[in-house]
Amino acid sequence: MSNYEKPDFWALKARKEGYPARSVYKLLEIDGKFGLLPKGNKAGFKILELGASPGSWSLYILRKLSGSGFLAACDLSSLSSRFEAEFRAEKNFFFKQADMFAAGTQAELAGLGPFNLILSDAAPLTSGERGLDAARSHELAEAACLYARSALKKGGNLCVKIFQGAETAGLIKKMRPAFNALKTFKPEACRSSSFETYLVGLGFKILS
Ligand SMILES: C[S@@+](CC[C@H](N)C(=O)[O-])C[C@H]1O[C@@H](n2cnc3c(N)ncnc32)[C@H](O)[C@@H]1O
Repeated sequence: MSNYEKPDFWALKARKEGYPARSVYKLLEIDGKFGLLPKGNKAGFKILELGASPGSWSLYILRKLSGSGFLAACDLSSLSSRFEAEFRAEKNFFFKQADMFAAGTQAELAGLGPFNLILSDAAPLTSGERGLDAARSHELAEAACLYARSALKKGGNLCVKIFQGAETAGLIKKMRPAFNALKTFKPEACRSSSFETYLVGLGFKILS
């Protein structure tokens, strides 16, 4: 087993606390820092999640929404079958197994909005070639920004994962005017070897 595959502190914690993946702790930190998920009245609060499999973020969100609001999620892969019963029981949850780049998927998901919050943890299968992985991640981040343009409510927030690369500064420059504030944040739960970070746009104005 390589170091990358070895269950670490976060993976073991996820298993113990009933989540399919360690990535839940990244969202927990992001939410703790920026307060993206609603704390009080959740009724009418709509969230779109891109790159949702195996479903840790979805479970965290649904448990926090506790039956209120609405979560739409999408991934190329299915959600973890271990949590099928919990996902099925959620009336305020819609999951689409599809490619987020597909025009039909974009239209279908946008039609479920507008959303108060759009999250993208979507990531390409890594090749080990940093430039290539960053370029693929950039395309996913750009696609998440397109979703925001068509389906994020004015004043809403966007949080997008990106593998930092040559195009990241350009994307930040493009996103900045669309939000009241644009932050970058790397949660502690990210692997130290990882070059991923999250771009967090707060207070959506308009994305050109
Ligand atoms: C890091 S995982 C997401 C983990 C998830 N946030 C969780 O907590 O369980 C990244 C996901 O992005 C998905 N992904 C990559 N490209 C995609 C695409 N074009 N459309 C939809 N999902 C995609 C992958 O299938 C993978 O499941």
